[in-house]
Amino acid sequence: MDHPLEPVNSPLLYADWQHIDKISLEHFSTKDWQVLQSQRHIYYREQQARQALRMLADSEADETFGYRINNFRHCLQSATMALRDGLNEEDIVVSLFHDIGFISCPDSHGEFAAALLGNYVSERNRWMLRRHAIFQDVHCPHHPHADPQARERWRGHPNFEWAATFVERYDQAAIDPAYECAPLSHFEPMVMRLFSRPSQPLYID
Ligand SMILES: [Fe+2]
Ligand SMILES: [Fe+2]
Repeated sequence: MDHPLEPVNSPLLYADWQHIDKISLEHFSTKDWQVLQSQRHIYYREQQARQALRMLADSEADETFGYRINNFRHCLQSATMALRDGLNEEDIVVSLFHDIGFISCPDSHGEFAAALLGNYVSERNRWMLRRHAIFQDVHCPHHPHADPQARERWRGHPNFEWAATFVERYDQAAIDPAYECAPLSHFEPMVMRLFSRPSQPLYID
């Protein structure tokens, strides 16, 4: 049986930071919030990209349910293909993370990736990420549940061609065990730069 968690503070990122030693947000003072905000800003700047990369790296040795490569290698192959085609850095990072939720959130994994990257990428990529699984259906003509017509509802939309191109070149064909992928470390500086962009608040309607 697991031991209960000790009632101690979690370590701070930096030794000269301080904990807000209260156990209810209702009791935080204005000063407490100011301290928290100043530490939070630095923490996110340094940790957000690292955590996203860790999520991916953690799946490196995962088993597959039948594809010849696991989801980690699929993501890496997708990003490497985008890199070698000369796509811009944002598109490469989007390729790297497009299926980050494929195992933990399978039926909404496009939304998962859009939520992870959405504040830092263009509307073109947010739009594509949310719909890429539907766009991919056209490449699965013998799949019993895929609907190749499903994406037609967006025909004529300014982002239609990018979504169609992404799934054709960097998704449906990124399942090859013989493809020589660049290592994850190659993409790390790109990921760090993307998450260093100013976060654009997304409004929920
Ligand atoms: Fe996907
Ligand atoms: Fe994919």
